[in-house]
Amino acid sequence: MKEARRFFCTECGNETSKWMGRCPACGAWNSLAAAPAAPGKGARKGAARPPAEPVPVSGAATRPEPRIPVGPEGLDRVLGGGLVPGSLVLLSGEPGIGKSTLLLQMAASLQERDRPVLVVSGEESPRQVALRARRLGIASERVLLLPETSTEGVIDRIAQVDPACVVVDSVQTMTAAGVDSAAGSVSQVRAVAALFQEVAKSRGTPVVLVGHVTKDGQVAGPKLLEHLVDVVLTMEGEPGHELRLLRATKNRFGTVAELALFSMTGSGLEPVRNPSAWLLEDRQAGAPGSAVAVTVEGTAPLLVEVQALTVASQLASPRRVARGVEPGRLALLLAVLERRLGLGFGDRDVFVNVVGGLAPREPGMDLAVAAALVSAFMDRPLPPSLALFGEVGLLGEVRGVGRAPERVREAAALGFGRIALPARDRDGVNEGVVLLPQRHVGDLLTLLGDDGAGIG
Ligand code: TYD
Ligand code: MG
Repeated sequence: MKEARRFFCTECGNETSKWMGRCPACGAWNSLAAAPAAPGKGARKGAARPPAEPVPVSGAATRPEPRIPVGPEGLDRVLGGGLVPGSLVLLSGEPGIGKSTLLLQMAASLQERDRPVLVVSGEESPRQVALRARRLGIASERVLLLPETSTEGVIDRIAQVDPACVVVDSVQTMTAAGVDSAAGSVSQVRAVAALFQEVAKSRGTPVVLVGHVTKDGQVAGPKLLEHLVDVVLTMEGEPGHELRLLRATKNRFGTVAELALFSMTGSGLEPVRNPSAWLLEDRQAGAPGSAVAVTVEGTAPLLVEVQALTVASQLASPRRVARGVEPGRLALLLAVLERRLGLGFGDRDVFVNVVGGLAPREPGMDLAVAAALVSAFMDRPLPPSLALFGEVGLLGEVRGVGRAPERVREAAALGFGRIALPARDRDGVNEGVVLLPQRHVGDLLTLLGDDGAGIG
């Protein structure tokens, strides 16, 4: 049976079975391109593989996956213990976030091994990369720079150089022979990634692809590569903030729970060893509208400051500005506070900010956001030694979120002596601190001090 041809829109990635002048999904003209042959089929057709043997699940993983340790500190952990030989890794993030910097530091960390690391740069000249390397204090003979955009050209070099690891910066600049659309188009990115996957698997060499994410969060148009690669690392951060978060959003060789924090300094990415302390450094304890949340990022508890500000609005529909808190979550909390506590936010502008550029997506943040809002509204501060966690339900009830012992331990270690937590999470917590079990958002009112009354 003849295999049906497929076409992809190079703008939105929509798949169709016949060519059309205009994409039916996004409406772009002349954007459809023929899909390249499925990965592996073209190049290796002659080399027929022996049929696969079934193996019992109990015996298939008797030995642990070998790992190549890499730096900077934290990257290993996010990878699940280092790079797996033969794996294809995608590092995605917005332009300028620090992907090239991270991978250059990674390449340098591998230099003690006797094989080189090949850094393919389709975006920057070797001179530009070398200047950056100098700033990072990297002067290694074993980090080889290759200015090349032809995937086949890179694959030839890999065969010659036999590197311990290959970095491709970025996948959007590479082209594969026989695909007649522009670099960065859906069909090119797909074909390029399939070729690198083949190289990684056949040689046992890990290949790390850089993928730029556009503002709406898509790698190379649609999230094309995510299902193809073994590991997806995502680098995030706010422009203008030093903090960079690195996490795995997919990992065939480990969990996706680990998170590494770095600070972008003049000499590259520095691991942040005590993130909670680092994040609370500039805090003005005792100011109305400030609350400390004990959240969980990855597998570790993390303390972050939530700030809220509310003023009488001049607008018909008052402003709600949320940084680090989902707008929908903020709307819900405002509705709960209005309905259950009678706090009239309806004619007020509300601003909420999670300090440091973090955006924790975890229900345990609710109580601290609610506390910051109540404190801002009443213009009365929360006790400086107070930290909070808990989910807030639509009835105003405070719901358990789990991991309470770890959260309380982290808060206690940073000197917080009073912890407001869901009543349900109180059992088993014994850290020598004052626990303030909360059942209802109304309980927050009893936590407010008088120190700030009448200010402003
Ligand atoms: P870069 O790694 O080029 O980002 P990406 O590859 O994700 O596009 O880094 C981008 C920014 O980082 C750049 O604007 C300058 C800054 N930077 C530093 O602050 N310190 C450094 O040591 C380096 C190398 C870059
Ligand atoms: Mg770059």
